[in-house]
Formats: sequence, C-alpha cells, structure tokens
Amino acid sequence: MNGTNAGGAAVSRETHANGHGRRLIVLSNRAPIRLVHEHGRERIEPTVGGVGSTFLRLLEHNGGVWVAWSGGPKTPTRLLLPGDAPRFALVFASLSERDISNYYYGMCNRGLWPLMHYMISNCHFSAAFWNQYQNVNRTFADLAAAEALPDDQVWVQDFHLALVPKMLRERRPGLPIGIFWHVPFPPEQLFRILPWRGELLTGMLGADLIGFHTHAYVNHFLDCCERIMGISVDRDAGEVIVDGRRVRVGAFPLGIPADYFAGLAGSERVQERTERIRRALRSPVVVLGVDRLDYTKGIIERLAGFERFLENNPAYHRRVTLVLIAVPSRTKVADYVLLKRQLDEQVGRVVGRFSSEGWVPIRYLYTQFNAEELVSYYQAADIALLTPLRDGMNLVAKEFVASHLKDDAVLILSEFAGAAEELTEALLVNPYDSDALARRIRQAIEMDPAEKASRLRALRAKINANDLQYWSARFLNALGESAFAPRESFAGASGR
Ligand code: UDP
Ligand code: G6P
Repeated sequence: MNGTNAGGAAVSRETHANGHGRRLIVLSNRAPIRLVHEHGRERIEPTVGGVGSTFLRLLEHNGGVWVAWSGGPKTPTRLLLPGDAPRFALVFASLSERDISNYYYGMCNRGLWPLMHYMISNCHFSAAFWNQYQNVNRTFADLAAAEALPDDQVWVQDFHLALVPKMLRERRPGLPIGIFWHVPFPPEQLFRILPWRGELLTGMLGADLIGFHTHAYVNHFLDCCERIMGISVDRDAGEVIVDGRRVRVGAFPLGIPADYFAGLAGSERVQERTERIRRALRSPVVVLGVDRLDYTKGIIERLAGFERFLENNPAYHRRVTLVLIAVPSRTKVADYVLLKRQLDEQVGRVVGRFSSEGWVPIRYLYTQFNAEELVSYYQAADIALLTPLRDGMNLVAKEFVASHLKDDAVLILSEFAGAAEELTEALLVNPYDSDALARRIRQAIEMDPAEKASRLRALRAKINANDLQYWSARFLNALGESAFAPRESFAGASGR
C-alpha cells in the first residue's frame, strides 16, 4: 500500500491534538480517498473535489479519526495518514452488499436525496431501506463512540448520517457533536411526506450544532421542529430546546479552497491545457456546464434553454459552443439511468438539428476530470451555465469564478442553487424558463468587458472571504461555543 500504514487501535491513540485544538472525529459516507485495486495491488488515490481536502487538512492539523465507507464492499479496517508521519486514522465502516443496496442506493439516493431537493415525485421509501439506514447509522455511531477520547469533538457530514448525532449522544453523552447538512432542506409541507420524519428530526437534534448552507434551509428545518415535533424554537437566537437541552441551528455557507484554484489556474501546465482545449473547440464563444449527471442539476433544462437560444439567434450559429461535462453518478439508480438516456437523446437531437460543416454546437463529455483538467475547462470557457433545479450550494459556481484570474468571464447561475444567496452578482436565472435562459446566454455573450470584470471581481471577493478554511473554522468555533460556553445570542437563523 502506498504512503500509508495499516495499524491497530492502539496505534491510533498516537493521533493526539497538539495544542492546535481539540482532536476531531469526522464522520462521512464518502472517504477522502479511494482504494484502487490494480494488478493485484492496492493503491490509494485522493477523491477529487468536495470537502475531502478540507477535512484532510483539518485532521492533519488537529489529529483525530475519520470514519467513512470505503466506497465498496471490500473494506480494510484502518489506515494511518499521512503515511510518513501519521496524524490521524481513517477508520472504515464495513458495509455489506445489502447495506449498500438498501442504505446507500435505497434510503439515501432514492429516498432522502430527492426529498431534500424538493422532488417528491422521485421519492421511493420502503421499510427495508429505513431499517438498513438505521443499522448503518448505528455502525457509524458505534465506531465513533469507540474511537472518541473524552476531549474530542465530533463533526458529522450530510444526510447519509442523520441519526448518528442522537445515537452517539446516547453512547457518549459528554461529546460535543455537530452535523453539517450539505444538501438543501425542504419546506415543512414537503418534508412531511417522509414516513420517518419524526425519527429523522430527532436523530439530527441529538447534535449541539446543526449547520445548513442557507438561511432558507435553516428556516425550513426550524418550521419542521416546531410544526412536526411541536418543540419550542427561538428563531432570533437560532435555537431549539429539546428535553431541556439547547441545540443551535445556523447558516454556514460552504466555501472552496479559493487560493488552491487560483494557484492551479495560474500554473503553466493548466494554462497550456486551457490553450489546447480552446484551440480544439475552434469557437469564438465557449459556454460550459459541469455537474454530476443528476436530475437535480437541471441539465435537460439547460439544453432546452440553449436550444431556444440557437433558435432565436441564428446570427450566433457557428460562433457559440456549449461544452457539457456530465460526471457519471449513482449509475445503479433507475432515475439516473433514465436521465442518461434522455440526455443522450436530447444532445443528439440538438446536435443533429443545428450542426453545420465544421461546427457542432454541443461537446458532450461523460466523464470525471481531476482538478487540473477541470480548472483548464473552467478557464477555457467564457460563460458558465449552471442551472440546478435545486442544489445545496453548487461548488462548481465558486470554482469557476476562482479559476478566472483575468476577470473575463460570466457566471449564469440558477436562482435555486444555495450559492445564489451569496453570489448575487452572477446572472441569476429560473432554469425552468427556457426563454429566460436563452436571454441570459445572449446577455452574457454581449456583456461589455467592464461589466464582466466588475461582476467577477465582486464575486471573487466574496469567494475569497468565505473560503473553505473560514467555513470550517466558523463551524468549529460555533460548535466549541455551543458545547462548552453558553452564549447570550447566536446570529444563526435570520428572521423570516
Ligand atoms: N468535480 C470533479 N471532477 C469533475 C466535475 C466535478 O472533481 O469532472 C468536482 C468539482 O470540483 C466540485 C464537485 O465535484 O468540487 C461538485 O460539487 P458541487 O457542489 O458543484 O455538486 P455536487 O456534486 O456536490 O452535488
Ligand atoms: C452531494 C452530497 C455528498 C455526496 C456527493 C456525491 O454533494 O451532498 O454527500 O458525496 O453528492 O454523491 P455520492 O453519492 O457519489 O457520494
């Protein structure tokens, strides 16, 4: 195995905090690394994007333990990272094929994912899904309970592990526990359809601190606490009182490692790659869409908007190309299989309808890129067209801005992305409105350079100020305060 040690429980106790803060116990469904099996050997690769890199840095700094699923049924028990000077242990939750099927593909991806994104017609619920969801949450809580030292703090990530806070509190009442919800939280009238709505809320409320990306999601959650659970909510303080215990609820908009993206964008390799992409596309204007292939991302709606743009603007034919990067995701779930088929058909139809000699209006890439490749595409594009029907945050929007060092690009962003609450200088759009999308594309193409620059500068300032490090520090400070030192007030939820 490259760069890591496999070790036992006794070794993990070496991973102490060293005066930089409390040790951290991080729990997430996905691990920050992937185990790749090649030629009979096991290799470790970092997973790309997302919050993996922050927690790696945080854990290297604070020491501690990361509990996660390995991503497959074959699971080593624990690794010490970094391999040369271990600072923390990565402990794998072992999931059976049945767990993966009912917990991950079932409850998480066919039940909670569409529910959280307000897409109730995509929701499938079953008692088998729920049972396995409970079992897997229990496995994670057991592992964390066994690993945590008395002074540790626990940070649970996302909707896969909603029940862990309560389960862990029962096992280890003294530990400060925070949960961050990386997806949206739906309005109470939609959330109500979940057969286990009370259990899910109770599970989350086992935490001391519950974080969401936006004030809107905070308010939806508080509505659910009040109207479904009948518990008392203080909206001004961002607090819920559960059995006499105070739980704080707040908006912590996730940031990106902006300097990392700017550094990549400025590197010679990336600039050369950008040039190559641009030359190969041979198009005066490049519009880019990047997402996991997911029905929440509005990819079909984006194509409809682009098609309308081509219909309405023949003068732009041969001058504009849409690059569509769709990353394979959850390919065993029927709704994702269906979406892939629809997208293939729709791309084929639009390409067939508008292509002319030497020009293909859409370049469609069904693949996953690493950070360097992705930043090259960001830089090669004049316009990002990001149209989720609902999205917790949308990190791609922030990464696109951070990668455009010359202030010469335009961000078109769905008003239904969490990022739209912050990124108000983007061209915001309703992705269900094809005419509005078409108008926005034209507006972006025709925007004068001074306006582009001033919008992008304003966006970059926000993204730099609220970067990934700031986000994690804010959350951990709030967790420390809520667990150890009662405060007068907490500017968590905004008024309604
Ligand atoms: N990403 C990647 N390779 C790709 C496309 C995307 O690594 O080919 C990363 C991207 O850098 C971003 C993440 O995937 O950090 C997507 O995050 P986002 O919040 O936009 O959407 P999510 O997939 O989490 O719903
Ligand atoms: C969203 C979720 C993450 C999840 C990611 C990729 O960003 O909030 O928790 O890891 O999608 O989905 P996957 O099912 O591949 O982990």
